[in-house]
Amino acid sequence: MANQQRVLVVDDETSMREVLEIVLTNAGYSVTLAGDVDEAAAHLEREQFDAVMTDLFMLNDRQAGMRLLSWLQEHAATTPVIMMTAHGSIETAVEAMRRGAIDYIQKPFSNDEIRLRVKRAIEQRNLLRENQALRKEQARHGDIENMIGKSPATQEVLTMIRRVANLPSTVAIHGESGAGKELVARALHQLSDRAKKPFVAINCGGIPESLLESELFGHKKGAFTGAVEDKEGLFVVADGGTIFLDEIGEMPLMLQVKLLRVLDNSTVTPVGGTTAVKVNVRVLSATNRDLKKMSEDGGFRSDLYYRLNVIPIHVPPLRQRPDDIPLLTRHFIRTMTSKMGLKDLDISAEAMQTLSRYPWPGNVRELGNVIERAVALNTVDRLEVADLPQQLREAASQVKKPSPTLPSEGIDLEQQTADFEIALITQALERSRYSQKRAAELLGLSARSLRYRLQKYGLDEN
Ligand SMILES: Nc1ncnc2c1ncn2[C@@H]1O[C@H](COP(=O)(O)OP(=O)(O)OP(=O)(O)O)[C@@H](O)[C@H]1O
Ligand SMILES: [Mg+2]
Repeated sequence: MANQQRVLVVDDETSMREVLEIVLTNAGYSVTLAGDVDEAAAHLEREQFDAVMTDLFMLNDRQAGMRLLSWLQEHAATTPVIMMTAHGSIETAVEAMRRGAIDYIQKPFSNDEIRLRVKRAIEQRNLLRENQALRKEQARHGDIENMIGKSPATQEVLTMIRRVANLPSTVAIHGESGAGKELVARALHQLSDRAKKPFVAINCGGIPESLLESELFGHKKGAFTGAVEDKEGLFVVADGGTIFLDEIGEMPLMLQVKLLRVLDNSTVTPVGGTTAVKVNVRVLSATNRDLKKMSEDGGFRSDLYYRLNVIPIHVPPLRQRPDDIPLLTRHFIRTMTSKMGLKDLDISAEAMQTLSRYPWPGNVRELGNVIERAVALNTVDRLEVADLPQQLREAASQVKKPSPTLPSEGIDLEQQTADFEIALITQALERSRYSQKRAAELLGLSARSLRYRLQKYGLDEN
């Protein structure tokens, strides 16, 4: 019976072990017995249990049960532990609860009491897990709102996500490393009707070929050396939900054939198995390689390429949407300071300008790392250029200066300079949607000197 719940009983007294084994087996549990802490730990290392019942005082060791409890806290913190104590030792029972036991039971106890306590412990544990899953789900939900970016390019991606989230079609997400492909995949799942079902991500590049196959499709016991029991593949785990095949360009050709079959038939066959299992999974993939070119050159099956690429979404590199940089920067400053328990930080206009000018080969991830480092190193209450890595400072100083030539007839310098300033100030205002604070940052001016110029040129009339 695969769904039988497993209980580990730890007691140094043979008669007590026997009684518990009979009572719990009759109640429908699969019971494993251990006579001391080491034996219990050995079982716990090998298999998962739904609950552990342990005696406190074993083999002259008053703390044996407590030792097992700490071991469990470290190695399998979600396994509920019921501590069995001698009659009258309520203080130690309380101490056990304080150290993480889910319940205690005093000897002697009735059979009904045991059954009830074990059942309750497992239910309580399941509830806890559900809550955790829910919280994770909510945290992920935050990911969509956390997809920062007001630039037209990012807005286009967001519109696309909303439009296709609920379709069954495959989506291929491409874009440079660190551009936000995984974020897009999660958003697609979150906004779909599948949101309550699993989102399973797997990096096809990080796993050896033989393992990848059994990870994706599962295997039967004995299919290969080391396959000691049946294992469900991720396609089965993701049933009803979404699977995200990251770095799909790294998938070996042999597996590409199998994946194509899964996509065509909506069924998976585990390694070493003969029967196919029906699955209902939305398939998303991502790559930073040029799959089309790879498929033309034979590095990727072209039939699979077309099958995966029904809806392509391109996440543009950060350098093509510099308007997102100030927003992302503020977002990262906020998240990093709150993660480090610091006060929110300001950033100097010059530092913001340096960030906005850098081409960001590592994209949003690199920006996040740079801000994390700057926040960690910063000692005053404002991020300055000095807090940024050297390569950024150098790149900023290499920005081309305008090199006008003086016409032979001469110019009106005052007027030309004014025109030049007005043109750039107007652009900065438009780009920052008329936020003077942000416009000043874009221009490397203080808010005051921007106001002065607005007045001077009569740009502040509305
Ligand atoms: N628009 C965005 N708003 C906020 N955070 C973002 C945005 N885009 C990316 N990030 C953050 O940048 C980091 C990199 O994003 P992600 O992992 O999605 O990139 P990727 O394209 O999958 O990269 P790789 O190709 O290296 O796997 C993540 O921490 C992600 O949360
Ligand atoms: Mg990724």
